[in-house]
Amino acid sequence: MGIFKHHKKLSTDTMSNGAKLITASNPKDPISEQFRTIRTNIDFSSVDRDLKTVLFTSADVSEGKSTVSANMAVIWAQQGKRVLFVDADLRRPTLHMTFGLVNTKGLTTYLARGADYHELLGNSGIENLTILTSGPVPPNPAELLNSKRMKDFLANSQNEFDIVMLDVPPLLSVTDTQVLSAEVDGVVLIVRQGITQKAAVQRSVELLKMVNAKVLGYVLNDVSARSGYGYGYGYGYGYK
Ligand SMILES: Nc1ncnc2c1ncn2[C@@H]1O[C@H](COP(=O)(O)OP(=O)(O)OP(=O)(O)O)[C@@H](O)[C@H]1O
Ligand SMILES: [Mg+2]
Repeated sequence: MGIFKHHKKLSTDTMSNGAKLITASNPKDPISEQFRTIRTNIDFSSVDRDLKTVLFTSADVSEGKSTVSANMAVIWAQQGKRVLFVDADLRRPTLHMTFGLVNTKGLTTYLARGADYHELLGNSGIENLTILTSGPVPPNPAELLNSKRMKDFLANSQNEFDIVMLDVPPLLSVTDTQVLSAEVDGVVLIVRQGITQKAAVQRSVELLKMVNAKVLGYVLNDVSARSGYGYGYGYGYGYK
Protein backbone atom coordinates (compact mmCIF):
# COMPACT_ATOMS: atom_id res chain seq x y z
CA MET A 1 0.00 0.00 0.00
CA GLY A 2 1.48 3.32 -1.02
CA ILE A 3 2.01 6.20 1.33
CA PHE A 4 0.37 9.26 -0.07
CA LYS A 5 2.47 12.34 0.00
CA HIS A 6 0.88 14.80 -2.33
CA HIS A 7 -1.88 16.99 -1.13
CA LYS A 8 -5.11 17.43 -2.98
CA LYS A 9 -7.86 19.88 -2.39
CA LEU A 10 -10.12 18.24 0.12
CA SER A 11 -13.69 19.10 0.81
CA THR A 12 -13.39 21.50 3.69
CA ASP A 13 -15.58 24.33 2.49
CA THR A 14 -19.32 24.78 2.36
CA MET A 15 -19.44 25.08 -1.44
CA SER A 16 -18.80 21.41 -2.01
CA ASN A 17 -21.37 18.60 -2.07
CA GLY A 18 -18.97 16.25 -0.33
CA ALA A 19 -18.55 15.88 3.42
CA LYS A 20 -16.56 18.54 5.23
CA LEU A 21 -13.31 17.13 6.56
CA ILE A 22 -12.61 19.29 9.57
CA THR A 23 -10.42 16.53 11.04
CA ALA A 24 -8.08 16.93 8.06
CA SER A 25 -8.21 20.71 7.71
CA ASN A 26 -8.17 21.54 11.40
CA PRO A 27 -7.07 18.68 13.67
CA LYS A 28 -6.95 20.99 16.71
CA ASP A 29 -10.56 22.16 16.38
CA PRO A 30 -12.83 21.02 19.26
CA ILE A 31 -14.93 19.12 16.70
CA SER A 32 -11.87 17.11 15.66
CA GLU A 33 -11.31 16.39 19.33
CA GLN A 34 -14.90 15.15 19.55
CA PHE A 35 -14.22 12.74 16.69
CA ARG A 36 -11.20 11.43 18.60
CA THR A 37 -13.47 10.89 21.61
CA ILE A 38 -15.83 8.90 19.39
CA ARG A 39 -12.84 6.80 18.30
CA THR A 40 -11.93 6.13 21.92
CA ASN A 41 -15.51 5.15 22.72
CA ILE A 42 -15.64 2.80 19.77
CA ASP A 43 -12.31 1.26 20.82
CA PHE A 44 -13.75 0.61 24.27
CA SER A 45 -17.01 -0.79 22.92
CA SER A 46 -15.16 -3.32 20.80
CA VAL A 47 -12.39 -4.47 23.13
CA ASP A 48 -13.59 -8.08 23.01
CA ARG A 49 -13.60 -8.36 19.26
CA ASP A 50 -11.42 -7.39 16.39
CA LEU A 51 -13.06 -4.42 14.69
CA LYS A 52 -11.98 -4.67 11.07
CA THR A 53 -15.14 -3.70 9.21
CA VAL A 54 -17.43 -0.94 10.41
CA LEU A 55 -20.25 1.26 9.17
CA PHE A 56 -22.01 4.33 10.47
CA THR A 57 -25.67 4.58 9.58
CA SER A 58 -28.87 6.37 10.55
CA ALA A 59 -32.62 6.03 10.19
CA ASP A 60 -33.18 8.61 7.49
CA VAL A 61 -31.47 10.83 4.93
CA SER A 62 -29.18 13.74 5.77
CA GLU A 63 -28.49 12.83 9.37
CA GLY A 64 -24.73 13.01 8.97
CA LYS A 65 -23.69 9.50 7.92
CA SER A 66 -21.23 10.59 5.25
CA THR A 67 -19.83 13.46 7.32
CA VAL A 68 -19.26 11.36 10.43
CA SER A 69 -17.90 8.40 8.42
CA ALA A 70 -15.45 10.54 6.44
CA ASN A 71 -14.13 12.29 9.53
CA MET A 72 -13.79 9.00 11.39
CA ALA A 73 -11.88 7.57 8.41
CA VAL A 74 -9.47 10.52 8.71
CA ILE A 75 -9.19 10.10 12.50
CA TRP A 76 -8.27 6.42 12.21
CA ALA A 77 -5.81 7.18 9.40
CA GLN A 78 -4.21 9.91 11.52
CA GLN A 79 -3.80 7.31 14.26
CA GLY A 80 -1.68 5.30 11.83
CA LYS A 81 -4.29 2.74 10.84
CA ARG A 82 -4.43 1.78 7.17
CA VAL A 83 -8.01 2.67 6.33
CA LEU A 84 -10.06 1.71 3.28
CA PHE A 85 -13.17 3.88 3.00
CA VAL A 86 -15.73 2.49 0.57
CA ASP A 87 -18.76 4.26 -0.88
CA ALA A 88 -21.45 1.61 -0.47
CA ASP A 89 -24.19 4.23 -0.74
CA LEU A 90 -25.19 3.24 -4.25
CA ARG A 91 -28.22 5.55 -4.06
CA ARG A 92 -26.63 8.91 -3.20
CA PRO A 93 -22.87 8.43 -3.42
CA THR A 94 -20.71 11.36 -2.21
CA LEU A 95 -17.21 10.02 -1.47
CA HIS A 96 -15.85 11.01 -4.87
CA MET A 97 -16.91 14.60 -4.19
CA THR A 98 -15.46 14.62 -0.69
CA PHE A 99 -12.07 13.41 -1.93
CA GLY A 100 -12.09 15.03 -5.37
CA LEU A 101 -12.04 11.77 -7.32
CA VAL A 102 -13.69 10.71 -10.57
CA ASN A 103 -16.44 8.13 -10.19
CA THR A 104 -16.56 6.44 -13.58
CA LYS A 105 -15.41 3.20 -11.93
CA GLY A 106 -15.67 1.93 -8.39
CA LEU A 107 -17.35 -0.62 -6.15
CA THR A 108 -20.11 -1.35 -8.67
CA THR A 109 -17.51 -2.05 -11.37
CA TYR A 110 -16.14 -4.79 -9.15
CA LEU A 111 -19.57 -6.06 -8.05
CA ALA A 112 -21.07 -6.19 -11.51
CA ARG A 113 -18.08 -7.42 -13.50
CA GLY A 114 -15.75 -8.96 -10.98
CA ALA A 115 -12.97 -6.51 -11.85
CA ASP A 116 -9.87 -6.56 -9.62
CA TYR A 117 -10.77 -4.01 -6.95
CA HIS A 118 -7.13 -3.03 -6.44
CA GLU A 119 -7.25 -1.26 -9.79
CA LEU A 120 -10.24 0.75 -8.63
CA LEU A 121 -8.74 2.17 -5.42
CA GLY A 122 -8.31 5.94 -5.23
CA ASN A 123 -5.90 8.28 -3.50
CA SER A 124 -7.53 10.34 -0.76
CA GLY A 125 -4.66 12.80 -0.45
CA ILE A 126 -4.43 11.78 3.21
CA GLU A 127 -1.74 9.42 4.42
CA ASN A 128 -3.03 5.91 5.26
CA LEU A 129 -6.48 6.59 3.78
CA THR A 130 -7.51 4.82 0.57
CA ILE A 131 -10.85 5.37 -1.17
CA LEU A 132 -13.09 3.14 -3.23
CA THR A 133 -15.77 5.29 -4.85
CA SER A 134 -19.21 3.85 -5.62
CA GLY A 135 -18.83 3.59 -9.37
CA PRO A 136 -21.84 4.14 -11.64
CA VAL A 137 -25.15 3.92 -9.80
CA PRO A 138 -26.77 0.58 -10.72
CA PRO A 139 -30.47 -0.30 -11.07
CA ASN A 140 -30.18 -3.06 -8.45
CA PRO A 141 -28.08 -1.84 -5.48
CA ALA A 142 -29.52 -4.22 -2.86
CA GLU A 143 -28.88 -7.23 -5.04
CA LEU A 144 -25.28 -6.20 -5.73
CA LEU A 145 -24.58 -5.50 -2.06
CA ASN A 146 -26.11 -8.83 -1.05
CA SER A 147 -23.90 -10.76 -3.45
CA LYS A 148 -21.12 -13.24 -2.79
CA ARG A 149 -18.74 -10.79 -4.45
CA MET A 150 -19.50 -8.21 -1.76
CA LYS A 151 -18.85 -10.77 0.98
CA ASP A 152 -15.60 -11.77 -0.75
CA PHE A 153 -14.62 -8.11 -1.01
CA LEU A 154 -15.09 -7.56 2.73
CA ALA A 155 -13.23 -10.77 3.56
CA ASN A 156 -10.28 -9.95 1.29
CA SER A 157 -9.94 -6.21 1.84
CA GLN A 158 -9.81 -6.54 5.62
CA ASN A 159 -6.66 -8.61 5.22
CA GLU A 160 -4.99 -5.73 3.41
CA PHE A 161 -6.20 -2.86 5.57
CA ASP A 162 -6.52 -2.34 9.32
CA ILE A 163 -10.05 -0.95 9.01
CA VAL A 164 -12.56 -1.13 6.17
CA MET A 165 -15.35 1.45 6.49
CA LEU A 166 -18.52 1.61 4.43
CA ASP A 167 -20.55 4.73 3.74
CA VAL A 168 -24.15 3.58 3.40
CA PRO A 169 -27.72 4.78 2.73
CA PRO A 170 -30.30 5.25 5.52
CA LEU A 171 -31.65 2.16 7.26
CA LEU A 172 -35.36 2.86 6.96
CA SER A 173 -35.72 3.60 3.25
CA VAL A 174 -33.94 0.67 1.57
CA THR A 175 -32.65 -2.76 2.62
CA ASP A 176 -29.03 -2.14 1.52
CA THR A 177 -27.77 -1.08 4.93
CA GLN A 178 -29.53 -3.83 6.84
CA VAL A 179 -27.90 -6.35 4.51
CA LEU A 180 -24.44 -4.81 4.98
CA SER A 181 -24.90 -4.46 8.75
CA ALA A 182 -25.08 -8.23 8.98
CA GLU A 183 -21.69 -8.51 7.28
CA VAL A 184 -19.59 -6.02 9.24
CA ASP A 185 -17.99 -6.35 12.68
CA GLY A 186 -19.64 -3.24 14.06
CA VAL A 187 -22.40 -0.72 13.36
CA VAL A 188 -22.66 2.77 14.87
CA LEU A 189 -26.04 4.47 14.73
CA ILE A 190 -26.12 8.20 14.12
CA VAL A 191 -28.95 10.14 15.65
CA ARG A 192 -29.38 13.73 14.61
CA GLN A 193 -30.38 15.86 17.52
CA GLY A 194 -33.81 17.41 17.10
CA ILE A 195 -34.35 15.75 13.71
CA THR A 196 -34.38 11.97 14.09
CA GLN A 197 -37.71 10.80 15.54
CA LYS A 198 -37.62 8.44 18.50
CA ALA A 199 -39.78 5.88 16.65
CA ALA A 200 -37.33 5.94 13.76
CA VAL A 201 -34.45 5.19 16.11
CA GLN A 202 -36.42 2.32 17.66
CA ARG A 203 -37.25 0.90 14.24
CA SER A 204 -33.60 1.19 13.17
CA VAL A 205 -32.46 -0.72 16.23
CA GLU A 206 -35.08 -3.41 15.50
CA LEU A 207 -33.85 -3.76 11.91
CA LEU A 208 -30.28 -4.12 13.14
CA LYS A 209 -31.26 -6.69 15.77
CA MET A 210 -33.14 -8.69 13.16
CA VAL A 211 -29.88 -9.39 11.33
CA ASN A 212 -27.83 -9.77 14.53
CA ALA A 213 -25.80 -6.68 13.75
CA LYS A 214 -23.34 -5.67 16.44
CA VAL A 215 -24.37 -2.17 17.45
CA LEU A 216 -21.32 -0.56 19.04
CA GLY A 217 -23.04 2.65 20.10
CA TYR A 218 -24.60 5.88 19.00
CA VAL A 219 -23.29 9.16 17.72
CA LEU A 220 -25.49 12.06 18.63
CA ASN A 221 -24.93 14.47 15.78
CA ASP A 222 -25.50 18.20 15.73
CA VAL A 223 -25.91 18.45 19.47
CA SER A 224 -26.95 21.88 20.58
CA ALA A 225 -25.04 22.92 23.68
CA ARG A 226 -28.21 23.58 25.63
CA SER A 227 -30.24 20.45 24.97
CA GLY A 228 -27.59 17.90 25.93
CA TYR A 229 -28.02 14.21 25.30
CA GLY A 230 -31.46 13.15 24.15
CA TYR A 231 -31.33 9.41 23.63
CA GLY A 232 -29.86 6.68 25.79
CA TYR A 233 -26.11 6.92 25.72
CA GLY A 234 -24.26 8.62 22.96
CA TYR A 235 -21.17 10.43 21.90
CA GLY A 236 -21.74 14.05 21.08
CA TYR A 237 -20.37 15.63 17.95
CA GLY A 238 -20.82 19.01 16.34
CA TYR A 239 -21.79 21.91 18.54
CA LYS A 240 -23.16 24.12 15.81
N1 LIG B 1 -22.85 18.24 13.11
C1 LIG B 1 -23.22 18.91 12.02
N2 LIG B 1 -23.32 20.26 12.08
C2 LIG B 1 -23.71 20.95 10.98
N3 LIG B 1 -23.99 20.40 9.78
C3 LIG B 1 -23.91 19.07 9.67
C4 LIG B 1 -23.52 18.25 10.77
N4 LIG B 1 -23.53 16.96 10.35
C5 LIG B 1 -23.92 16.97 9.05
N5 LIG B 1 -24.14 18.22 8.63
C6 LIG B 1 -24.58 18.66 7.28
O1 LIG B 1 -25.82 18.00 6.99
C7 LIG B 1 -25.87 17.63 5.61
C8 LIG B 1 -26.09 16.12 5.52
O2 LIG B 1 -24.94 15.46 6.01
P1 LIG B 1 -24.43 14.13 5.36
O3 LIG B 1 -24.33 14.22 3.89
O4 LIG B 1 -23.21 13.73 6.11
O5 LIG B 1 -25.64 13.18 5.74
P2 LIG B 1 -26.00 11.74 5.23
O6 LIG B 1 -26.70 11.07 6.35
O7 LIG B 1 -24.78 11.07 4.68
O8 LIG B 1 -27.01 12.04 4.05
P3 LIG B 1 -27.56 10.98 2.96
O9 LIG B 1 -28.72 10.31 3.64
O10 LIG B 1 -27.95 11.84 1.81
O11 LIG B 1 -26.44 10.04 2.64
C9 LIG B 1 -24.56 18.08 5.00
O12 LIG B 1 -24.76 19.32 4.37
C10 LIG B 1 -23.64 18.22 6.19
O13 LIG B 1 -22.61 19.16 5.96
MG1 LIG C 1 -24.46 10.15 2.85
